[in-house]
This record gives sequence, C-alpha cells and structure tokens, in this order.
Amino acid sequence: MDYLDQINLSKLPQHVAIIMDGNGRWAKGKGKLRIFGHHNGVTSVRDVVEGADKLGIKYITLYTFSSENWNRPKLEVMAIMELMVSTIHKEVPGFMKNNIKLNAIGDLDMLPEKCYNELQNAIETTAGNTGVVLTLALSYSSRREIVRAAKNIAIKVKSGELDIDDINEDVFEQNLFTGDMPNPELLIRTSGEYRISNYLLWQIAYAELYFTTKLWPDFRKEDLYEAVLDFQKRERRFGMTSEQVN
Ligand code: IPE
Ligand code: IPE
Ligand code: MG
Repeated sequence: MDYLDQINLSKLPQHVAIIMDGNGRWAKGKGKLRIFGHHNGVTSVRDVVEGADKLGIKYITLYTFSSENWNRPKLEVMAIMELMVSTIHKEVPGFMKNNIKLNAIGDLDMLPEKCYNELQNAIETTAGNTGVVLTLALSYSSRREIVRAAKNIAIKVKSGELDIDDINEDVFEQNLFTGDMPNPELLIRTSGEYRISNYLLWQIAYAELYFTTKLWPDFRKEDLYEAVLDFQKRERRFGMTSEQVN
C-alpha cells in the first residue's frame, strides 16, 4: 500500500509550508553548477503542487527566495531571477487548467522589474481560480514581515482608525502578508538542515515540523504524502494533556 492510500482525507492539513532547500548541493553532487539545481527544483514544485491538489490541500506556501538570499553571488541571484521570470511565464496556462491561484508574499518591490511584472501578471490572471492557493515567498523575511505589521498597526492607531486596546493576536495576524490564510499546520524542510531560516515565524507557532534529508530537486509528491501521513500520526495537543484532546 502506498502512502496515498493510507492518508485520512478528513484529517488533512489545510495549509502546508515548505522550505525548499538543497538545490546547490544536489547540483554539486552531479558535478554541475548550482543553478542546475534550481532549474531541477522547478520539476519538484510542479509535482508537489499536483500532489497537494490531488490530496485536497488548499494552501501551499513555498520558500522560494529569502531576503538573506540577496547576499548570494550576483550571478546566482541573477540566474534565479531569470529562472523565476521564465518559469512563472511558462506555468500560467497550467495554473489556469488546474484552477491554481498564484499568490506571493515578501518585499516584492525588491524584485527586478521583469520578475515583478511577470509575477503580478500571473497573480492577476489566476486571481479568479478557486483551487489550490500557491503562495511563493519571495524576497521574504519573517522578521521584516512582523516589523511591517507593527508599523501598519502604528499607522492605524495614529490616524485614529484603530484603538490601542483593540490590538490583539487576530488584528496582528491580519496585518501580516498571510492575513487571509489559515496558519500552516505542517512545515516541511528538505536537505537535512534543521532550522527555520526566518520563515513564517509567527505563523508556525503550532505547526508540526517535518524534516527530511532529501534534497529539494529529488522531492516528489510521494514525499509530500509521506510527510502528511507522518503529520496524521502526531497528537496535536496545543498545550493541553493527551487525555483532554482525545
Ligand atoms: C534552496 O537551495 C534554494 C534557494 C535558497 C534559492 P540552496 O540554493 O540553498 O541549496 P543548498 O542549500 O546550497 O544546497
Ligand atoms: C532558506 O534556504 C531559503 C529558501 C529555501 C528560499 P537557505 O539555504 O537560504 O537557508 P540557510 O542559509 O541554509 O539557513
Ligand atoms: Mg540552502
């Protein structure tokens, strides 16, 4: 029996976030340049989104490029941006066919103009789709997102739109990029690194963490199913006792 047959479809995570890591090492292992790994990572993205759709996972959020990644060698950064432009352009017909809605979070205005425009175009084109919501975290830093939310709230307080006493977790959450999404219940990181790297710090407060040593270009929908199955075996207690939640 494969993983898919064992998954309980009534207990799916609504939102899965993924830190797609290991492209560079994958390429190096094959004696190729790092960008070869990024190119092959696109196949994994396609396959995993297809898997999420097949299962019925509504939200999938992919760490695609961090704010810290701007510090990589210029050639690699440029190659990633080029890859983004061509990939987004190529994928739009598939998004339309499969009812996928594209979304992006992060400091998008830091992206090169061509990349920004291609992204906005794809987001607008797919805006009416009602299937999987595929969110790309691009030029994303969770700490920056939190600071930005704090600033937005301060502006609203200053203008009188919001009362200080009305600031609570819900209000704060609404001011994050992810305000209109449920929090991820499952966070997957590939490549055997056991860290969060400034990703969705607020949102993963109670997410189940799943680490695999697989490198991202080797990750496929079956690996997603395996992670979901693992998720379903866990007892999510939210601070309560085992007896309480059962
Ligand atoms: C993840 O793979 C992709 C990005 C961060 C853009 P890496 O490029 O980090 O690959 P490794 O970790 O160096 O192997
Ligand atoms: C995290 O991977 C960012 C993305 C996957 C886009 P990194 O490879 O940049 O993370 P660190 O530097 O190893 O923490
Ligand atoms: Mg890495």
